[in-house]
Amino acid sequence: MSSGELLNFPPDFRWGAATSAYQIEGAWDEDGKGPSIWDAFCRQPGRIRDGTSGEIATDHYHRWEEDVSIMVELGLQAYRFSISWPRVMPTGKKQINAAGLDFYDRLVDRLLSQGIEPYITLYHWDLPLALQEQGGWPARDTAFYFAEYAGLVAKRLGDRVTCWITHNEPFVAAVIGYITGDHAPGIQDPVAGFQAVHHLLLAHGLAVEALRASASRPLKVGITLNLNPVHPASDSEADQRAAGRFDGMLNRMFLDPLFLARYPADIEELIGPAFPRVQQGDLEHIATPIDFMGVNYYTRSVVRYDENFPIIQATQVQPEGSEYSQMWEIYPPGLYELLVRVWNDYRPTDIFITENGVPVPDGLDADGRVRDERRIRYLHRHLVQAHRAIADGVPLRGYFVWSLLDNFEWTAGYTMRFGLVYVNYETLERTIKDSGRWYARVIQENGVPVNEEYYSG
Ligand code: FCB
Repeated sequence: MSSGELLNFPPDFRWGAATSAYQIEGAWDEDGKGPSIWDAFCRQPGRIRDGTSGEIATDHYHRWEEDVSIMVELGLQAYRFSISWPRVMPTGKKQINAAGLDFYDRLVDRLLSQGIEPYITLYHWDLPLALQEQGGWPARDTAFYFAEYAGLVAKRLGDRVTCWITHNEPFVAAVIGYITGDHAPGIQDPVAGFQAVHHLLLAHGLAVEALRASASRPLKVGITLNLNPVHPASDSEADQRAAGRFDGMLNRMFLDPLFLARYPADIEELIGPAFPRVQQGDLEHIATPIDFMGVNYYTRSVVRYDENFPIIQATQVQPEGSEYSQMWEIYPPGLYELLVRVWNDYRPTDIFITENGVPVPDGLDADGRVRDERRIRYLHRHLVQAHRAIADGVPLRGYFVWSLLDNFEWTAGYTMRFGLVYVNYETLERTIKDSGRWYARVIQENGVPVNEEYYSG
């Protein structure tokens, strides 16, 4: 790679990898941890494709020291992980589980001692089950409990951890958790789901304030959204309007309140009576200025008009002739389009790509290597687009690969491997994949090769 021409990133650009608690930790009921909605959901028959759960996952809770060593080997500069709310507060409020907090305290110390900057996500979907039993995100109180939890964690770790992400993908937590019901807690109720959207956002705003109030020094606080560019399946007016509605629901419903302190009027009209109850002052909390915005990018959405699809009358299609992974269309230019759009429309101070990656059906070759060339190609093509966005003035400050390790991929169980590191789920042995080695070079050289010839060898 070093022989070819490089696209260089800015000197202070941060290279990292991401994980989330439920997907890697395991130890689901150890040392005083309470159950989460995902613990309960996975036990319901038929919910998870391979009938598995995150009860053991990659056993990171016991193998975290080895995992930090792997990060060191990869040369990571930053590590984004999430804190399990029920591990530190078993019922989500009041009672604190000291052993749970200690776990993250040790992890943070080890990361810092190795020169790896922790980026903490406070909510990556594992709501304490006790709070779901009191109504979950559709209940307004949950937002206030979340802020207490955020303050508690910042009091303990805010002296050392600078970068905080309140929520991961509130769209997924609300819409997939409470409207389609495909994720925990598996509820199908649009009224509950839209109320959950609002309470997740309110929880974000309250948590930003709680984080800043609790820490002994200035923090950098942000939120991570899953955003896709939305393209109409054809030039027809019906498809174009469908794309506008889809964009409203997926992107603007979250970006507008966070940056403009209002919900999009067209979406409010579309949702009608199921539109969430918003109390006076809520939007001011939600739009509390943040220090950075996190973008998770995997794919674009191509949509067509569909009169039978509830509320948005739009359905996603898979365009012919595109390249696909096991989960989604692979569409690198969408990352550039998205970053430029977010920057032009909302002017966030800083932007981080907090997730980007691809599932590949990896396996160990006879010599013990994992030759995941498709992942290398995917990462390369997306980094070229990220570089383009920076060149065009987008304040993109860092990039996190999803994921450090192969892990529990929600309803797909262990059937999707996203890691830079292969995990043997029987022995829990870890093996750095070719993509991990490739990424280590990218970090070292602070750049990606201009062309892809490198991968054919
Ligand atoms: C994102 C999630 C992450 C992982 C990837 C593939 O939506 O934030 O936990 O499942 O997708």
